[in-house]
Amino acid sequence: MAFMFNFSAETADDKKEGVSDSNCPSVQVADIKCDKTGNHHLTPASEVCVHKQSEIDKSITVSSHKVGSTILKYLDPSDVEEQIRSRGDKEGAIIKAISAHSDLVAHVYEGGLKIWECSLDLIHYLQEVDIDFTNKKVLELGCGAGLPGIFALKHGAENVTLQDYNEEVLEEMTVPNVLLNSPDDKGDINGRCRFIAGDWSRLESFLKDHDITSKYDIILTSETIYSIESQPVLHDVLKALLSPGGTVYVAAKTHYFGVGGGTRMFEDLVKERGDFTINVCKEYKDGVQREILKMKLTHESDNR
Ligand SMILES: C[S@@+](CC[C@H](N)C(=O)[O-])C[C@H]1O[C@@H](n2cnc3c(N)ncnc32)[C@H](O)[C@@H]1O
Repeated sequence: MAFMFNFSAETADDKKEGVSDSNCPSVQVADIKCDKTGNHHLTPASEVCVHKQSEIDKSITVSSHKVGSTILKYLDPSDVEEQIRSRGDKEGAIIKAISAHSDLVAHVYEGGLKIWECSLDLIHYLQEVDIDFTNKKVLELGCGAGLPGIFALKHGAENVTLQDYNEEVLEEMTVPNVLLNSPDDKGDINGRCRFIAGDWSRLESFLKDHDITSKYDIILTSETIYSIESQPVLHDVLKALLSPGGTVYVAAKTHYFGVGGGTRMFEDLVKERGDFTINVCKEYKDGVQREILKMKLTHESDNR
C-alpha cells in the first residue's frame, strides 16, 4: 500500500533565489521491499570516485544561491531528472521514483535529487553564526545536492565527506555540484572531498574498512529526520562518527505531516538515549515551521 503526505513548503526566498518548485512536493512513500525475514534490503555502502577529466553536461541549467558573499552553484534538479528520464534506464532508483510519481520511495530513493528548503536554512545559519570550518573534518549526511557540505569546503574545511543513500544522486548531482564550485577556488575543493553512497547503518564500517576519516569535527544534515524508522539509525551513526568536542547541526521541519517524524520526535529520542546534549538554536515560522538543532556528545571521553 502506498500513501501520500505533504512534506514541505516553499518560502518567498526560495522563489527569489530560483530554487526548484519541486522543493514543495507531495511525497509518496511506496512499498518497501523486504526479504523473507521481513528485513529491508538496505543499500550497501560504496564510494563514488571523481575523475579529474569529469565534465558537466552543458545542456543542464546551472543555478546559484548566494549566502553572504559566498555563491553556491548547483545543477537544476528538474533538468537532471529530465536527463535521467531520457536515458530510460528502468532499473535506476531515481527512474523508479519518477515512474511512481514520487519524490521519495522509502529504502529505494530517499529524495536526494531535490534541494529541500532546510538545506538553505542550514547554510544561512552557518553563515549567520560564522561557524569556523578552518581545518575541520566535515561530514554531510543525506547530502543530496550537497550545498551545506560545499559551503564548508568553500569556508576552509580540511576535508568533507558527502554521503547520500543513492549512488546515482552522488554521480548525477553532488559530484557535478562540487565540480561546479571548484574551478575558481584556489584550494581545489574537489580534491578535499569523498563521496559515499549507501544506508547509514553501513557507513561506519565502510569508512573504517577504507581508511577514510572515521571521526568528524562537524556533522551537517538536513531534512533527514522525517522517517520515524530511520531516526535511531541516524542517531547511531552520529554517535559513532562525531569527534570528541565535535558538533552536529540538524536542519529539519518541526513536524513532517503524514509520516510522524520531525524535530520534537528526534529531540525526544536523543534525550532518551542520553549520548548527546541537544538544543534548538533557530526556529523559522514562515511557511512550514522549521528548526536548526545543535548536538554535542554528553560524555566526550565515551567516543574516543
Ligand atoms: C529529503 S532528502 C534531503 C536531501 C538534502 N539533505 C536536502 O536537504 O536538500 C533526504 C536525504 O536523506 C538521505 N537518507 C534518508 N534515509 C537514509 C538512510 N537510511 N541512509 C542513508 N541516507 C538516507 C537520502 O540520501 C536523502 O538525500
